[in-house]
Amino acid sequence: MSWSERQRAMLREMGIPAFWPVPPEAPADAPTLPEAAPQARPSPAEAPSSDPVRRPEAITAAPPPAVARPARPEAKAPVSLAAAATAGVDAILRHRPEGIDQMDWPTLRQAVAGCTACGLCESRQQTVFGVGHEQASVMIIGEAPGEQEDRQGEPFVGRAGQLLDRMLHPVDLTRADAAASRQVFIANVLKCRPPGNRNPLPAEVAQCEPYLMRQIALVKPRVIIAMGRFAAQSLLKTSEPIGRLRGRLHEVQGTPVVVTYHPAYLLRNPVDKGLVWDDLCRVRELLLS
Ligand code: URA
Repeated sequence: MSWSERQRAMLREMGIPAFWPVPPEAPADAPTLPEAAPQARPSPAEAPSSDPVRRPEAITAAPPPAVARPARPEAKAPVSLAAAATAGVDAILRHRPEGIDQMDWPTLRQAVAGCTACGLCESRQQTVFGVGHEQASVMIIGEAPGEQEDRQGEPFVGRAGQLLDRMLHPVDLTRADAAASRQVFIANVLKCRPPGNRNPLPAEVAQCEPYLMRQIALVKPRVIIAMGRFAAQSLLKTSEPIGRLRGRLHEVQGTPVVVTYHPAYLLRNPVDKGLVWDDLCRVRELLLS
């Protein structure tokens, strides 16, 4: 059975490569996809290699090979591919826990750590939940973990993160241990690194959004700073360019949102640091008001 254009488009939307090599021993005319939707799958680390959902050869009509073949590096991919191609987005949605909007901090942390709601769980080293004071006055929201963040499990630890720390200092904010009024909480729209730091896909954002919304509800910050075009547009559900979103006050969950440039952008365009300084002064004013 070959994939329809619709299935391929759906896989593309979910960030799953639309190529699933048929195992060499499978007959060319063998069905390569199961008829029924696969059951909820275990996390990649837990999945045994004999799990029939994970192994394409187990869901073909071909008999199992007589000799065990060495594990192949791409052996993880069929989980998402099979789920997506046979049952659509609904099958993937099932892997996100229920009741996120009621979770407390420990449950939310656990839910994020074990999330397999989109294909990013296949390539991440770890999830990046967020860092800072759980009742911080200011919540900073970035785009997604990069390579360093994926490795260390903390947001904004690369060069952009170091610049962010330097930007916060003059307005008396810090990610280091401090009182809630001075310490920020930093989170990203996505909790997992997109491979190669590619742009997050709409389906990935949709899957991750409830986690961020719950983080905002739990922190109850006085001000949110959306860093960069992607965070601003995702949070405010708009496609307006960042140049038009900056300098205006927005709101999410009744909390004022200040939009500013991403520190990674500032590393490339230091001339715009003055604009970010203006935005941070606006944050300061809101905190003092
Ligand atoms: N850029 C982001 O938006 N978030 C990070 O955590 C790191 C870089």
